[in-house]
Amino acid sequence: MTNTILEINDLKVSLTEKPDISIIKGLNLSIKKGEIHAIMGPNGSGKSTLANTIAGNPMYTIDSGIIKLNDEDITIISPDERAKRGIFLSFQYPIAIPGVTMVNMLRSSLKAIRGTEPSAREFIDELKATLATLKMDEAFARRYVNDGFSGGEKKRAEILQLGMIKPKLAILDETDSGLDVDALRAVADGINTLKTPEMSILMITHYERILNYVTPDYVHILVDGKIAKSGGFELAKEIEANGYDPILNA
Ligand SMILES: Nc1ncnc2c1ncn2[C@@H]1O[C@H](COP(=O)(O)OP(=O)(O)O)[C@@H](O)[C@H]1O
Ligand SMILES: [Mg+2]
Repeated sequence: MTNTILEINDLKVSLTEKPDISIIKGLNLSIKKGEIHAIMGPNGSGKSTLANTIAGNPMYTIDSGIIKLNDEDITIISPDERAKRGIFLSFQYPIAIPGVTMVNMLRSSLKAIRGTEPSAREFIDELKATLATLKMDEAFARRYVNDGFSGGEKKRAEILQLGMIKPKLAILDETDSGLDVDALRAVADGINTLKTPEMSILMITHYERILNYVTPDYVHILVDGKIAKSGGFELAKEIEANGYDPILNA
């Protein structure tokens, strides 16, 4: 029994539709239970590709390497099986689903992930408790998923899903992008409130801003599909001060 949640070895990934376009070019990463890891990197370095590959998005093909969750090779299992095993991906660009309320979507998600339908009573209690923890209005949960949501509301909707699903590994892809400072703080507070020792987080971000609120244990810099540098929080501060150029030109 190890306490490693995610273990990635020499991962190489290309686009399924264009197999000659290789994006991840030999990546290693190990995340233990409860740890927060940040992946930072310039645009186009492969951050979203990595996030989607871990979650099992068929747009991307693993050419070699292994992804293990809790010691189990998940490289070939389907995205829904990965979700059942505890992987959650919040999207950089969440889509709207007019006609489907947040409540309905959350209920369906929980049913799919847990394999049993929570009773209406249990579900409502859980939802109310989570909304209260996150200081969100109940009316918010009755709205259609992302329909007419502001940038900040879309990200808060992702955090509400996180709070209901309680994954073992939460992959947050640019949850901070496009947020003003108040919305950023609200989202960061939400993540900190939901974080338990049972939840590991892979926080993907271009800017170090959010890392001032959700402090990572480790920071990795992704450049052209490979981790160019790893360190602690000070590495994020280095990027804030000097940008990516010193690492790109190293
Ligand atoms: N579906 C796709 N079609 C074409 N190119 C893609 C696709 N997905 C990713 N890429 C390319 O792969 C590289 C990495 O993209 P991405 O993982 O989105 O980077 P990041 O999230 O770090 O900005 C980019 O050059 C991007 O243009
Ligand atoms: Mg991206």
